Amino acid sequence: MTGDDLQALARSALEEIAGVADQDQLEEVRRRYLARHGGSIAAAATQLARVQGEERAALGRAFNSAKGAVTEALERRQTELEQGSWEVGLSAEEMDVTHPLHPLRRGHQHPVARTVREIEDIFARLGYLSVAGPEIEDDLHNFQMLNMPPEHPARDGHDTFYLAGDGAGWLYRTHTSPMQMRTMLAGQPPFRIIVPGKVARRDNPDPTHNPVFHQVEGLCVDQGVTVADLKGTLEYVLRQLFGKERGVRLRASFFPYTEPSLEADVACGICLGEGCRSCLGKGWIEILGSGMVHPDVLATAGVDPDRYSGFAFGMGPDRIAALRYGIRDVRELYENDLRLLEGF
Ligand code: DAH
Repeated sequence: MTGDDLQALARSALEEIAGVADQDQLEEVRRRYLARHGGSIAAAATQLARVQGEERAALGRAFNSAKGAVTEALERRQTELEQGSWEVGLSAEEMDVTHPLHPLRRGHQHPVARTVREIEDIFARLGYLSVAGPEIEDDLHNFQMLNMPPEHPARDGHDTFYLAGDGAGWLYRTHTSPMQMRTMLAGQPPFRIIVPGKVARRDNPDPTHNPVFHQVEGLCVDQGVTVADLKGTLEYVLRQLFGKERGVRLRASFFPYTEPSLEADVACGICLGEGCRSCLGKGWIEILGSGMVHPDVLATAGVDPDRYSGFAFGMGPDRIAALRYGIRDVRELYENDLRLLEGF
């Protein structure tokens, strides 16, 4: 093989490379010219070993330039082919941005969560801060500091879930009222807070009772707070929640930590006062307890009852949600039946 032969081989290789349509054909051309075994240009390398001197130098130069030219052409063509297949791919993947989507399933808040948010909004307008407290409490804060020493009869109404423990009297809080105490102990008056949260009692489930339920506690302590402020606040909030038309009444009641004490009832949302299964025949559903904070409770919390007075309340957002949305049984709120929940 001579230098001219190599040049001729390189020329025909370049022509073929320019003509290939895809990477397989390109690889086939590469093999025919450059493969170590059987490549026609590569064959010159074997021949180099057999010649000497000037002849060897000339053949070597011709071999290097032929191989270099072909290798470079192969690489250039390879890049062109890759670029082409990228563009072909792009145009094949065209998409229709006007094609309609599957209908989106939109979630929404649970009726109790929505009610709690609304209660928070109403009280925020009145200047109340919403705070959270621990669900696991001790006997001291849940009962004793609220004028319910051990053996106090008012404890019977609480049917407490006690937790096994180290004798510290751990329990699942039976109401959110312990946060009144924690708030007052941690700061200085004036206080205006609400405390939404979960509570639990060993109640027998019925249309107005579920063992786990929600409460929103409230506390307002300042100089010169009177029962008129309590009544005005409750009436305003209940009107906001239920509208002007719905029957609402306040009744005298008793709680060890308030004096005097009041309860508020709202006309049953199902029978509007007639008496039905949902209100257990009463026509009214109790939704909150309240009263003027007992002076002893203020003193226990380190607030001077001669300078300050206040009112407190605890309302039940589960019952409020049931009353507002016409839910017949509060237990339905805890069954997580989507068919029911999607209706709100
Ligand atoms: N803790 C009471 C309950 O669970 C509700 C309550 C009554 C809260 C009077 C208060 C209050 O803050 O002053 O039934």
